[in-house]
Amino acid sequence: MKDRLILGIETSCDETAAAIVKNGKEIVAQVVASQIESHKRFGGVVPEIASRHHVEQITLVLEETLKQANLSYHDLNAVAVTEGPGLVGALLIGVNAAKALAFAYDLPLIGVHHIAGHIYANRLVKEFSFPLIALVVSGGHTELVYMKEHGCFEVIGETLDDAAGEAYDKVARTLNLPYPGGPHIDRLAHEGTASIDLPRAWLEEGSFHFSFSGLKSAVINTLHNAAQRGITIDPKDMAASFQQSVVEVLVEKTVRASEKYQAQQVLLSGGVAANKGLRTAMEEAFKKKKGIDLVIPPLSLCTDNAAMIAAFADVLYEKGIFGDYRMNAHPGLELTSYI
Ligand code: KG4
Ligand code: ZN
Repeated sequence: MKDRLILGIETSCDETAAAIVKNGKEIVAQVVASQIESHKRFGGVVPEIASRHHVEQITLVLEETLKQANLSYHDLNAVAVTEGPGLVGALLIGVNAAKALAFAYDLPLIGVHHIAGHIYANRLVKEFSFPLIALVVSGGHTELVYMKEHGCFEVIGETLDDAAGEAYDKVARTLNLPYPGGPHIDRLAHEGTASIDLPRAWLEEGSFHFSFSGLKSAVINTLHNAAQRGITIDPKDMAASFQQSVVEVLVEKTVRASEKYQAQQVLLSGGVAANKGLRTAMEEAFKKKKGIDLVIPPLSLCTDNAAMIAAFADVLYEKGIFGDYRMNAHPGLELTSYI
């Protein structure tokens, strides 16, 4: 078989990213331009600033990617882009860049769902074995996804309120930590002890859904009450307690889902998958589960990148699912099956 080279573009939030992936499994080149520094002083992503940065960066990032790969656009088989979900103005920059390239070089155009991309970051690490369960934990999503074959996504659980990463970022802000707060809480958590009693939202028996807003409020209330009584709480202990509460629920529900759906493999994905506490707890839990293969991507493939977009695009190419010049940005795009 001739090698297939797909260029992926990702601009759904605050990273401008491009990558070239061979046969859906091998990264040939990848570039990620992060805007975190520009958003930091606002304590979160400012959509207008994000779009502006994407416009400035996209051409440079694409050029750098091709240069790194030592390839020209004529060597590519397709161009793929995140069409949603995400910030509409940010998505549009990527979508328009992809359409322009598809037109200029007569390349097939492929629209990718951002979460499908996060899941397929794992295929750059290891080939999938079905059925599998993917835990997606990012700034905007917390989902348990069941897959019985490539391109077939069944969301079996999702958050009823805040996403895990969102809870991390909000709690971090309460503790006066910089944006994005996830990595800071993770670091502090390892220096503190989980001595503060915080709730775990298991929801009703057998539910694979999540809820993190109660936990977030419990952290805020505990800190507030302590301050009123003149008691100081060590932020390290709060970080450790909060992290333990999040991780315990994520791991336990993933284990239960893997048992119920007789998973061969469990995949971890999304920005929060970079969390050391979560990675270690998942490894511990699945070490005991014989016959279930746990895959955890390297940190660079957990947070937003374009290699994951090209990786899933390869599956769509194989299935003959292409977009056209009417492609648009879909901020609220749902994850559905492609078969
Ligand atoms: O997947 P991602 O890069 O962007 C979205 O699609 O949302 O995820 C970003 C989220 C942020 O909320 C960030 O705080 C969180 O991932 N994050 C972490 C860690 N690294 C990034 N959360 C907890 N621990 C970490 N080490
Ligand atoms: Zn993401």
